[in-house]
Amino acid sequence: MVEPAESAAAADRIRASDDFEVATYLEIAEARELSQALTPAPNAPETVAIIDFGSQYSMLIARRIREAGVYSELIAWDAPPEALNHLRVKAFVLSGGPASVYDEDAPTLPPYMLASGLPVLGICYGMQLLTHALGGRVAPSDKREYGQAVVNISDPSDPLLEDLPGAMPVWMSHGDKIVEMPAGFRSIAQSDSSPVAMMVDDAGHLGIQFHPEVVHTPQGDVLLRNFLFNVADCAPTWTAKSFVEESIKTIREQIGDGRVICALSGGVDSAVAATLVHRAVGEQLTCVFVDNGLLRAEEPERVVKTFRENISINLRHIDAVDRFLNDLAEVTNPETKRKRIGETFIRVFEEEARDIGEVDFICQGTTYPDVIESAGAGGRAAKVIKSHHNVGGLPKDMKLTLVEPLRNLFKDEVRRAGVELGLPYEMVYRQPFPGPGLAIRVIGEVTRDKLEVLRQADWVVMDEIKNAAQYYDLWQSFAVLTDTRTVGVQGDYRTYGYCIALRCVTAEDAMTADWAKLPYDLLGTISSRICNEVPEVNRVVYDITSKPPGTIEWE
Ligand code: XMP
Repeated sequence: MVEPAESAAAADRIRASDDFEVATYLEIAEARELSQALTPAPNAPETVAIIDFGSQYSMLIARRIREAGVYSELIAWDAPPEALNHLRVKAFVLSGGPASVYDEDAPTLPPYMLASGLPVLGICYGMQLLTHALGGRVAPSDKREYGQAVVNISDPSDPLLEDLPGAMPVWMSHGDKIVEMPAGFRSIAQSDSSPVAMMVDDAGHLGIQFHPEVVHTPQGDVLLRNFLFNVADCAPTWTAKSFVEESIKTIREQIGDGRVICALSGGVDSAVAATLVHRAVGEQLTCVFVDNGLLRAEEPERVVKTFRENISINLRHIDAVDRFLNDLAEVTNPETKRKRIGETFIRVFEEEARDIGEVDFICQGTTYPDVIESAGAGGRAAKVIKSHHNVGGLPKDMKLTLVEPLRNLFKDEVRRAGVELGLPYEMVYRQPFPGPGLAIRVIGEVTRDKLEVLRQADWVVMDEIKNAAQYYDLWQSFAVLTDTRTVGVQGDYRTYGYCIALRCVTAEDAMTADWAKLPYDLLGTISSRICNEVPEVNRVVYDITSKPPGTIEWE
């Protein structure tokens, strides 16, 4: 049966002659053609767009390019050209990827890219795609080339190779290789198993078979810089200063004379985001710091002092300790702890926001890796808000618009922006601290007494790690209060006390981590100080598990 709405629509349909239809199709086709062109945003920083074909190293390429002072963003290979409208693209980099160009569903080159006439650097799969698209031939290698290799440069005069040695170690990871270059290309470097390890033409198209972005290619940064500055004619204008100035302007435009609210956690991201917004709109910003009773010793006082006294931000300090601890009573499951803390946070924050009165915007410290990680299948990014500061969970009737000044920044850029804004070094370079705080470092039920024991032990850890000048070399270093009690002898007594676990890890990001090989003397000092200074503890163990298989936190 035809639904009424559908039959009404059918009745409205205008009958057209075939000619009319053909004209319409042509118009549609023309519109498609047009939308394949790039529309640059004149005020955006000069950008290298990295077309992402799914390599595990794509994000690293963006970081390396930005480290060279040029802004870069990842664009999913199948994103429409409009996805670049906010950028002023100066060049393209094609990332590597796991596919083979001959796979049935292999990712393909976006049509707007070659049409743009801009310089293109294809890396690994990107090089193979470029070859395939421009009429060359790619074929599977006899053996997969994976790991360290040496490339020999045959044309040192090429601008891509300035300041590079005749033979250089590189990191290879490919199955297919170039067996026939497209017309107009020449090979400028070779390896044992790739006669075309690097190729260039005169139209600004370059291909390299290895990965310049990884540390195993020690001269990779020189090569990327040569591409940026000798081939693509970029200028190194992406600096903390330029970023801070630009974002203050943008925030001012976005907020106008509206009012903004921001939750401070004591962490770097929310601190930098709030300080930027404060610089942009001053008194229109109100920050809320919720003390959940799960912070390290002296932490709440430090946050309040930094923001109220040093930066004179309008700050509301909410003591919600009882509320959080009541909600955590008898909870032992780590995920339930996280959930309870998240829910309570949102309720407290919401009450506070309503109390402030008319608020239009909410500022969050979402950073670029959060945005990329949330890009769904096909790569179209969705906004995601991490951890328990998920104020995205606020009731819809509050209708707050998000302000995310760090949305395009990597962590190290957030830190550099923090320094530029004059935030204290200790705050900007502090180790990450989880949203649910000490609740996930007290194993089992969280009580006031246990939190106090953990705080004292953790204080010793911080103190000794800082004294030994290890703090900034470690990704994280902290104490965990296990729920194991052990027998000890302290003085003339047998004791039955808590066992503290010491967790210190090194990492580049939190996806993987290694336990830190700290000096025995330092471990010994931490252990004896904790047992001496925290009466409830009689044993300290050191966690020697990497991630994977362990996680950094114990819960
Ligand atoms: P794991 O333990 O998963 O931790 O190896 C990776 C990083 O994330 C932090 N972490 C959290 N951060 N809310 C947060 O904001 C959480 O629930 C949470 N759990 C872990 C952890 O400290 C490490 O830096």
